[in-house]
Amino acid sequence: MFNLENFVKNTIKELKGTIRGKAVIALSGGVDSTTAAVLVSKAIGKNLRCLFVNTGLVRDEDLENIDWLKDNTELNIEIIDASEEFFKALRGVIDPEEKRKIIGELFIRVFERNAEDAKYLIQGTIAPDWIETGSGIRDKIKTHHNVGIPLDVKFQIVEPLRDLYKDEVRKLSQYLGLPESIYGRQPFPGPGLAIRVLGEVTPKKVDIVRRATAILNQEIGRAYPNFEEKPWQYFTVLLPVRSVGVRGDKRAYGYVIAIRMVQSVDGMTAAFFKPDFRLLDKIGTRITNEISEVNRVVYDITNKPPGTIEWE
Ligand code: XMP
Repeated sequence: MFNLENFVKNTIKELKGTIRGKAVIALSGGVDSTTAAVLVSKAIGKNLRCLFVNTGLVRDEDLENIDWLKDNTELNIEIIDASEEFFKALRGVIDPEEKRKIIGELFIRVFERNAEDAKYLIQGTIAPDWIETGSGIRDKIKTHHNVGIPLDVKFQIVEPLRDLYKDEVRKLSQYLGLPESIYGRQPFPGPGLAIRVLGEVTPKKVDIVRRATAILNQEIGRAYPNFEEKPWQYFTVLLPVRSVGVRGDKRAYGYVIAIRMVQSVDGMTAAFFKPDFRLLDKIGTRITNEISEVNRVVYDITNKPPGTIEWE
């Protein structure tokens, strides 16, 4: 049985012995990086710099989580607004793999530029991350599931959660006082909303998908107040097609939003979530009422396989 109290005590002691100087972490507001940051800051205090790179491709809730952490914890958080740089780099790019590559590389560059004084890099790696890669995350950083930072030449890597599984990290984060918005945060891809705007990514399109996501989150929160009842992952996607509709008595030619909600254990396979139609009705109505650019909403009924969870 995983003993939280002992784990925290021993890890802090170990970290105090290992880290001698400044350390840095890429904080996303997700459960792994936040839990790692809180643990390390308990050992070395302000010597840990937590960098949140705002790519412009994050959701409202990610920014809210960072604000919460700033207001409610001792973490030394710095927000780096690099959104303009990311949008510029993505201009004209349509291919999903190219989007991933551009975002991953730019993220590393921005991070590195801002982390120059640090000797240690803290990573929120958990057991499945390095078990899946076979030879360990140091030898082969995955590009798919994390914005892995292959900076191990420059920094000494410290991974305080590397022996834990996801459910243990969730328990640990609760034990450390983090709220459900963090320990219950659903998986969110490193490339962020860029792979949920199909085709070219522009600030305007990201804004549409962000507003649609916020509506979806509110309605899911209302329909399923307990973490355990919520779908494993749910989000909205902006399609690269327009569709005809009516607004008032005028013809409209607007965007299409797809709603994706899935049940899964680890993301490797997934079944589309089957909510009450009344919930879908509420979500669809709110999206078309509140986002004037959108005049059609569709629900994705594809399982994985053959579909992937994300559309890109
Ligand atoms: P797919 O779309 O492959 O997704 O069925 C499985 C899970 O992985 C997440 N995902 C990503 N996570 N970087 C990430 O960090 C990525 O490029 C990426 N692509 C997909 C996805 O959200 C789902 O939970």
